[in-house]
Amino acid sequence: ALRGVVALDGPSGTGKSTVARRLASALGAAYLDTGAMYRAITLAALRVRAAVSDAEAVAHAARSAELVMGTDPVHPTVTLAGEGVEHDIRGPAVTGSVSAVSAIPAVRELLVDEQRRLIRQAVKQSGGIVVEGRDIGTVVAPEAGLKVYLTASAHARAQRRTAQDAAAGRGTDLERTHADVRRRDDLDSGRAVSPLRMADDSVELDTTELDVAGALTQLHKLVEQRG
Ligand code: C5P
Repeated sequence: ALRGVVALDGPSGTGKSTVARRLASALGAAYLDTGAMYRAITLAALRVRAAVSDAEAVAHAARSAELVMGTDPVHPTVTLAGEGVEHDIRGPAVTGSVSAVSAIPAVRELLVDEQRRLIRQAVKQSGGIVVEGRDIGTVVAPEAGLKVYLTASAHARAQRRTAQDAAAGRGTDLERTHADVRRRDDLDSGRAVSPLRMADDSVELDTTELDVAGALTQLHKLVEQRG
């Protein structure tokens, strides 16, 4: 079983969520999707009609949100005041606004605190946790025993997002998705607070040519090496 923290960072469409969940489940570890937390806060802000450009209003919505994250890798849950929002946080309205919301310092402070609390709790209860996001190795859990930075070409990432949208019954448009992937990359890498970047001590894993099983094989090797 895993001891401690595995940090999985990288942009969207690298297969991060799928491999993070499967890795956690294979290792008997907990799992935390920090992107889902930024998405849930974005949904909460949109529901109270806060303008995402209004940092004060969004921060207020975030503090009132009653966000509770479940850390079981087989059934990861995201609830706002008791309501399951796992589906709603993947819709286009949230995806279009989440980068703006996640750039607000007060929102990051609130969520990073909660992420650290969940990590401490999971390490106590299950011994280990796989945490995925953008700033896990750099900011949230710099003490992580293994840090992996997943990459893939923008084209491969747009194709994966499109396939996921199709599988979930959402409308698809490869060109639009490609543009959205690039737009979010720019926003996430360019923001002032905790920009997306690789930690100095992380291992880069390029998944452009790897399927899920191939990526998992590499990750299991890395976990063993660090064990
Ligand atoms: O991983 P996912 O695509 O669901 O993340 C949604 C958004 O949340 C990202 O585009 C990014 O703006 C933000 N995010 C972040 N820091 C994290 C995880 C996600 O800023 N640790």
